[in-house]
Amino acid sequence: MSFQFPGVIGDSPRMREALRLMEIVAPSEATVLLLGETGTGKELAAQAIHLNSLRRQGPFVVVNCAALPEPLLESELFGHERGAFTGATSRREGRFLLAHRGTLFLDEVGELSPATQAKILRVLQSREFEPLGSTRTLKVDVRIIAATNRDLEAMVREGSFREDLFYRLHVFPITLPPLRKRLEDLPWLTEFFLRRFRDKYQRPVRCLAPEVLAAMRRYPWPGNIRELENIMERAVLMCEGEVLTLAELPPAFQPRTPEEEGLPPEPSPQEMEREYIRKTLERFAFNREEVARRLEISLEELNFKIKVYGLEPAKEHAR
Ligand SMILES: Nc1ncnc2c1ncn2[C@@H]1O[C@H](COP(=O)(O)OP(=O)(O)O)[C@@H](O)[C@H]1O
Ligand SMILES: [Mg+2]
Repeated sequence: MSFQFPGVIGDSPRMREALRLMEIVAPSEATVLLLGETGTGKELAAQAIHLNSLRRQGPFVVVNCAALPEPLLESELFGHERGAFTGATSRREGRFLLAHRGTLFLDEVGELSPATQAKILRVLQSREFEPLGSTRTLKVDVRIIAATNRDLEAMVREGSFREDLFYRLHVFPITLPPLRKRLEDLPWLTEFFLRRFRDKYQRPVRCLAPEVLAAMRRYPWPGNIRELENIMERAVLMCEGEVLTLAELPPAFQPRTPEEEGLPPEPSPQEMEREYIRKTLERFAFNREEVARRLEISLEELNFKIKVYGLEPAKEHAR
């Protein structure tokens, strides 16, 4: 089986390595841990792995572990019986059960509370659990893919993430590179999003001006591909012509003045003239006739400029 996922763009060395690992792990039943900053494509990678696994006919179920407070998250994961807690007016099936014969994607596992970590550990060990308020033990056949943008090893060291759960999840880690470390992919990604949003919104834009890619290469991309996707969507909507320019990008991409760049400002014409006269005076040992001749100005004019520019030699040199 060859790895097929047309929506995953990337040909940079780091992205190729990630794709190679995804290809290797997809057909196995191994638990996968996807690591990487926010917006680097962890959820997209999880889908790609599922679609290239033997479970691809089965469900792909997503749980965002950061989205819900503990009691709601546990009922989301394990389900509950009617009356299990206030507000549980009917029985509910949890995501573990919904993912039976498929893949369960546990997003943002670094945000799990200690109690929920313990419950998930048990399911990973035995594939068994009880819905809240129930004595029935359910058995499920699920493959786990987990993701986090946190440093789980550091969390284990400081005691906020269970070591045993960490080892259960850390079977086959794959790190998705941040966009700033795969700038080679920018032309492909921008092209991909340009086409997507041009078609979606029926816009005339056909290509990017070269300075757009240049400015994008200089930007640090804290929100990674998601940020690029949002910027491209807005830019394509704003663009009136066939060429997308810097004017359609947010302020962070606009050309900046030297002061903003932290460079020394360009010298003014007066500063340049003063420097030129100073160097010529030095070169001809303050021989004013010679200097005036070289500068093609009159001696009076030279004397005047020496005065206004404060170029008179210090006393000891004036002898
Ligand atoms: N390699 C890629 N090629 C195309 N689109 C991508 C790629 N990586 C991420 N995306 C898109 O960027 C957005 C963020 O990706 P997502 O998987 O949600 O990131 P994460 O889960 O790491 O925060 C999604 O819309 C996704 O489709
Ligand atoms: Mg995500």
